[in-house]
Amino acid sequence: MTLGPVPGPSDPAPAGAPPSAPAISVQGLVKRYRKATRNAVDGISFEVGTGAFFVLLGPNGAGKTTTISILTTTLSPTGGRALIGGRDIVAEASAVRREVGIIFQKPSLDQNLTGEENVRFHAVLYGLYPWAPSWRLMPAAYRTQVEELAGLLGVGEEIFAPVRTYSGGMRRKLEIVRSLLHRPRVLFLDEPTAGLDAPTRRTLWDYLARVRRESGTTVFLTTHYLEEAEGADHVCVIDHGRVVAAGSPAQLKAELTHETLIVDAAAADRAALRAELAGLGLAADGDGPFTLPVGGDRTHAVLRSISTPLTLVRTSAPTLEDAYLQIVGRSAADGEEEGAGGEASEGAAGHSDGASSTPEDSVRA
Ligand SMILES: Nc1ncnc2c1ncn2[C@@H]1O[C@H](COP(=O)(O)OP(=O)(O)OP(=O)(O)O)[C@@H](O)[C@H]1O
Ligand SMILES: [Mg+2]
Repeated sequence: MTLGPVPGPSDPAPAGAPPSAPAISVQGLVKRYRKATRNAVDGISFEVGTGAFFVLLGPNGAGKTTTISILTTTLSPTGGRALIGGRDIVAEASAVRREVGIIFQKPSLDQNLTGEENVRFHAVLYGLYPWAPSWRLMPAAYRTQVEELAGLLGVGEEIFAPVRTYSGGMRRKLEIVRSLLHRPRVLFLDEPTAGLDAPTRRTLWDYLARVRRESGTTVFLTTHYLEEAEGADHVCVIDHGRVVAAGSPAQLKAELTHETLIVDAAAADRAALRAELAGLGLAADGDGPFTLPVGGDRTHAVLRSISTPLTLVRTSAPTLEDAYLQIVGRSAADGEEEGAGGEASEGAAGHSDGASSTPEDSVRA
């Protein structure tokens, strides 16, 4: 499949925004839903540089969608502050809305309209093209752009069928076409690949990488597919509305996991191997294969020192998923301790100023 032109931000910089402002700046952001007893987002802070690929990770219910909804101005924060391209998401909400594109976690298409009609309404809503009552009467530029985006994601003639006849994957593709139409400067994707087949996921990622490279679009992603976060510039892990880890994937892995060397010998040689490993200061538990906390340069040195014939040699590099599982495991254990100590997460009362003065949890747009 050939890739079409990359849609990028349509003008160089938003008028009036500080030239060097980060794409996203979040400071002590808090959200408490009405009638909730704890904060869904509980004082999180982070920054995302222009053009960066940022991934927000966290278990179900951690507060990811809530954070994205606030940053895209569809939900009011209870406390804290957030800026998109230097603009305040509350005070300058309509300016922010022009800068951001979003793919919602929950499908947000009108089932009774065709795919193209959904896209057309979005285009008109964003002021991209004047309204016309049919596809044929829409400007040629619109038709070209939709055809290119649709072709890219493998959406064919189905785009003219009612959305209610689409499969889950098709709906996702249509939402992606729609979100790229107004060439957002910051693109928020809330689990965009959930339900997509492997080739489509790959096509989408290749395309988003190009969008970033060629147009400097900042990408903010949430996902439960950890391998999609391996290429991120920065990862932030939240749990129970709080930041529990942040850094590049390499930093998170280095802090929490280590490479391992796995060796084994024939049954008759295992005792000799175990003794040799002990001589190298490596405790080998169990009956083999033996997993050793050895990586990097030391791997070769250890292997050279072993004279017992080996039947298995394998190295294992940690993945971001390994590190992530440790982070959320640790965070869950901390949560239990806190609970046992009688300190529920209500402790964030200091953040909840204004909770009662926020009239609506719902959409402001
Ligand atoms: N409209 C709402 N009203 C009340 N509580 C809500 C509402 N939406 C979300 N919550 C609660 O806020 C918390 C955070 O939810 P959120 O949807 O942000 O999590 P998430 O990290 O996106 O989870 P997932 O990975 O399952 O999508 C959860 O405890 C959830 O039950
Ligand atoms: Mg969510």
